[in-house]
Amino acid sequence: MVWAERRAAAPGWPENISDIINPMKRILLITISCAACCLSAQAQKFENLALTPQMGWNSWNKFQGQVSEVLIREIADAMATNGMKDAGYQYVNIDDLWQGERDADGNIQADPARFPSGIKALADYVHSKGLKLGIYSDAGTKTCGGRPGSRDHELQDAKTYAQWGVDYLKYDWCNAEGLTAPEAYKKMSEALRAAGRPVLFSLCEWGNSKPWTWARDIGHSWRTTGDIFAKFDGIIDHEGKYKDYGVLQILDLQDGLRTYAGPGGWNDPDMLEVGNGMTVNEDRAHFTLWCMLAAPLISGNDLRHTPKETLAILTDKDIIALDQDTLGIEAFKYSAKEGVEIWFKPLARDAWGMCVLNRNTAPKEITFNWKDEVVRDDFSKREAGFDTTIYRLTDLWKKRELGTTKKPLQAEVPGHDVLMLRLRK
Ligand code: GLA
Repeated sequence: MVWAERRAAAPGWPENISDIINPMKRILLITISCAACCLSAQAQKFENLALTPQMGWNSWNKFQGQVSEVLIREIADAMATNGMKDAGYQYVNIDDLWQGERDADGNIQADPARFPSGIKALADYVHSKGLKLGIYSDAGTKTCGGRPGSRDHELQDAKTYAQWGVDYLKYDWCNAEGLTAPEAYKKMSEALRAAGRPVLFSLCEWGNSKPWTWARDIGHSWRTTGDIFAKFDGIIDHEGKYKDYGVLQILDLQDGLRTYAGPGGWNDPDMLEVGNGMTVNEDRAHFTLWCMLAAPLISGNDLRHTPKETLAILTDKDIIALDQDTLGIEAFKYSAKEGVEIWFKPLARDAWGMCVLNRNTAPKEITFNWKDEVVRDDFSKREAGFDTTIYRLTDLWKKRELGTTKKPLQAEVPGHDVLMLRLRK
């Protein structure tokens, strides 16, 4: 039967054969492009490892080069029993200076004096505590501490890490002359993928070439700044070569980056200095701000000897819930006046986090008259109109209900501290 006869025999039959073939072609094309898209996505980072920001510990901020298998085991013991594991921390990460020399075949080995049992045994131990092991390398020829980097050994190193049972790689950017960051990080990301063991890939390129614009398919987080140090407000300038930043300076450097972060890929304002010498108020403010920024929560203190007020900060479930909120939207600065900033973070179930930060050393009285304010976020398309909606307020640190947005908020915020509220309908 020719086409015209079929049409005549069956009412509703398409007018032209192309009416059938074209949609089929379209479906085929869509199927092919979807498959290609999945394949190319597959060639990149492991998905689903950081749907909320990663939580763990890293050796650098407190111990720098003083790493050893004894230390890492003791930290894992502490994390498994001091409430941190229960609060969601899972990675125990060895930073720089764990490496020894490469062997005759170019395989990287651990420093035999510091890690005599090797990294595989250490990974087994950390896993036996229900935790995960992270390691550190560098895209260049040498790490910042002068140990072998992964340049020209990417796949070999990724396979070694997979054999050892490593779950996390922080990848630094020292001695990388002649490399371009997007290519170098992609190369390691693909090597990890090829090695087959799911590894959370944490880029540490200090924000030099705006990794937030290119790293989302490559890794799970990207450092946005140079290194933090344990000071609330200050900068150390290393003879113009590089700088270390205090908490407030790092906070200010996050300006304009929030739209790049979200489930699966996070801006990383560097590891926590909680417990490393700031005051309790400063530690509390630092931790709260990092949670408002949906930052990776990588503690950096000596977990074996943690004062209870430090542990109370690191394990506060209400504050951590801000960081781990499933929407994964970073806070934004709503207002700033006389060193007092108000930040809002859209949260799931139409809730909001509101953080009042006092950057001054002296306490500040604040008044916030809800009915005069409209909080609008163009990025998340969320709006809180306090004239039409009443929210219940909870002080998340003091664990106190503060009434509702019907009456103005009045509070005193101590110097270098925060007032952290949750708003719920
Ligand atoms: C760089 C990184 C730090 C740390 C050191 C180790 O400075 O930014 O976080 O890893 O290297 O040498």
